[in-house]
Amino acid sequence: MNRIFSGVQPTGNLHLGNYLGAIRNWVRLQASHHCLYCVVDLHAITVPQDPVELRSSTREVAATLLAAGIDARSSIVFTQSQVAAHAELAWIFNCVARLGWLNRMTQFKEKAGKDRENATVGLYAYPTLMAADILLYHATHVPVGEDQKQHLELTRDIAQAFNSMYGVDFFPLVEPIILGTAARVMSLRDGTRKMSKSDPSDQSRINLTDPPEVIAHKIRRAKTDPQPLPESPAGLEGRPEAENLLGIYASLSNITLEQACQQFAGASFSHFKAALTELAVADLAPIAAELNRLLADPGYVEGVLKDGAARARTIADPNLSQVHELIGFLRS
Ligand code: AMP
Ligand code: TRP
Repeated sequence: MNRIFSGVQPTGNLHLGNYLGAIRNWVRLQASHHCLYCVVDLHAITVPQDPVELRSSTREVAATLLAAGIDARSSIVFTQSQVAAHAELAWIFNCVARLGWLNRMTQFKEKAGKDRENATVGLYAYPTLMAADILLYHATHVPVGEDQKQHLELTRDIAQAFNSMYGVDFFPLVEPIILGTAARVMSLRDGTRKMSKSDPSDQSRINLTDPPEVIAHKIRRAKTDPQPLPESPAGLEGRPEAENLLGIYASLSNITLEQACQQFAGASFSHFKAALTELAVADLAPIAAELNRLLADPGYVEGVLKDGAARARTIADPNLSQVHELIGFLRS
């Protein structure tokens, strides 16, 4: 059975983009794979974090995974910092990956912005830690949004370079799993920008904690254009907001973008938005309710994470020992 690994940062509210681009796929994959799902707090501190908020966001993100349908008995749900081997293997990979490879990473360029000299070394080395997350468990498949594809290519390069440095076939070459029509959910205020938790406008995203009336309000206010909806995806050219909303509809109802266009061909946005609201509320309201129940019991969530970390270590530690052996470190 293939092993799945994926990670999510504990920074603020998770939103519809995280759900459709990532978490919903994670839930589905549990039926056919052995899965590890990690709250990546070591990645979070590549940019400044408030300690109190980091701790509560870590619990909140873990609770969101459980509320969305991740089963912590069959899958391993844990926090990255609670399994020390992640940081250690990342260091080893820092000594495998080349500056030239990291220099090409577009996410670093985006996140560092103009003030690159002031970015942390951790932000720069972010992708080697991500490679360590995955390869520590010899995971073969990684479900992510499209924005993470480049990091997975780097993970393959690191695996290959390590294997050839030590003349072994130790680390597998991972494959991304990018599913669904909504691999990239865009902002409700600007169809050319990704829906993101760092967007200052809360109107730009649907948070998984939003109650039904807030979801309805945000969809009603979502940016559109003056034309009616087209009968096929070709008619969405140059209409990023329409494409995004139809994409969200298609993804939530498990149909293709083509089918969604057929369903709403010639309709007005107000008609379409009412249908989208109904669908979004039906899908998301039960998750929000379960999430609020779990958030009221932080001890339970922390217990799930501790148990997950213990199970993760039983896979990670022997693999890391083998890496030590290959590199030529003395046995501890
Ligand atoms: P992040 O919120 O950046 O930690 O991302 C967590 C997961 O959600 C990753 O797999 C991302 O690729 C995915 N993701 C984040 N934002 C979006 C978006 N707007 N559309 C689709 N997937 C997303
Ligand atoms: N970088 C990913 C993101 O921002 C999160 C992540 C960390 C991850 N480690 C991972 C995703 C390993 C998949 C596999 O979305």
